[in-house]
Amino acid sequence: MGNDELKLQSVPGSPFGVMLDAANRENQLLDRAAANPDWLSGCLKQGNGLLVIRRMAAIADRPEILVSLSHQFGSEVENYRNTPTPATMIHESQAQILVISNLPPCERQPPLRPDPPVTESNTLPVQFPHRIGWHTDQSFRRPPPDISLFYGVIVPPHGQGQTLFADGYAAYQGLPDELKKQIEGVNGLHALLGTGRTKAAVRSGVKPMKLQPHQASQLQPLVRIHPITRRPALYLCEYGQMDWLDGPIAGMEPGPDGEGARLLHRLMTHYTREDYTYSHEWNTADLVIYDNRCLVHCGTWFDAERYDRLMWRTTVMGNPGPEYAGEEKSWIPASGQGYLDGLGDGRWDNLTRS
Ligand SMILES: [Fe+2]
Repeated sequence: MGNDELKLQSVPGSPFGVMLDAANRENQLLDRAAANPDWLSGCLKQGNGLLVIRRMAAIADRPEILVSLSHQFGSEVENYRNTPTPATMIHESQAQILVISNLPPCERQPPLRPDPPVTESNTLPVQFPHRIGWHTDQSFRRPPPDISLFYGVIVPPHGQGQTLFADGYAAYQGLPDELKKQIEGVNGLHALLGTGRTKAAVRSGVKPMKLQPHQASQLQPLVRIHPITRRPALYLCEYGQMDWLDGPIAGMEPGPDGEGARLLHRLMTHYTREDYTYSHEWNTADLVIYDNRCLVHCGTWFDAERYDRLMWRTTVMGNPGPEYAGEEKSWIPASGQGYLDGLGDGRWDNLTRS
């Protein structure tokens, strides 16, 4: 079979993204990627930061394939044993794989269901604030990561447990000029989960914990210039991954009812408009690759009493762009400190699980 059979297609039902079908061609795909290290990252670029590879069944048996594919997308693949990560979420043989599952030993519960669970037209709620949990991975770190690879080992049936994506390039382009001007050079303040700074935590009056330097909230530009495409994209999260105590927007009135909150609300409502978004219904062995520098995503509820879900994720970093040049990794604790020391029990954090 020739390479031409691995044809790049558009993603059905999505305004952005590209797709490859690897069924019966997994070796061909891997050979081609090995021979041409720019091929898959070029596909990702062509898809505005979203590349779906269907039917990559080999990864489930050989998780090291996921790690080697991750190296195609950047210089550094996070080793979760070297970064602060609960041991129950680290793959037993591949420390570069984060395990997200309701199964033991991970036992993460799915995000909450939106209220009401469907829209007026009986569709899956996508737009903020009906849908909450939109985020870009690890934006509470500086420099933030580049790309995530997300693989479905065991997935719930269609109609639940989707992953939603929104195109940050298109959303930026679609902003009114006055809003583009208003957010130029402005930063959002992004918070690590468990630090008592989510919108729900601040509203509840829970006492925020005293943060170690490596746990501190981090500023990130609301508009990022993608280091490869040089195109501007919106870059922010919402309820669960912004700092609602001192933020969410630097230099604006803080708090859940402040001027910054109103701006964030307006931006995220716009960002997650239906015409910028895609809902991925998972099939077993789907590999979804997304560029955190130019899109946001959101996990959805599934019935964890009835269904199992086992997902593997890797995180690629190393090319955040010149605005982060020379920075030390903000999240690495000084020796003797545990990254998760003193963090809350996470009960406020179930909004942003992938
Ligand atoms: Fe995520």
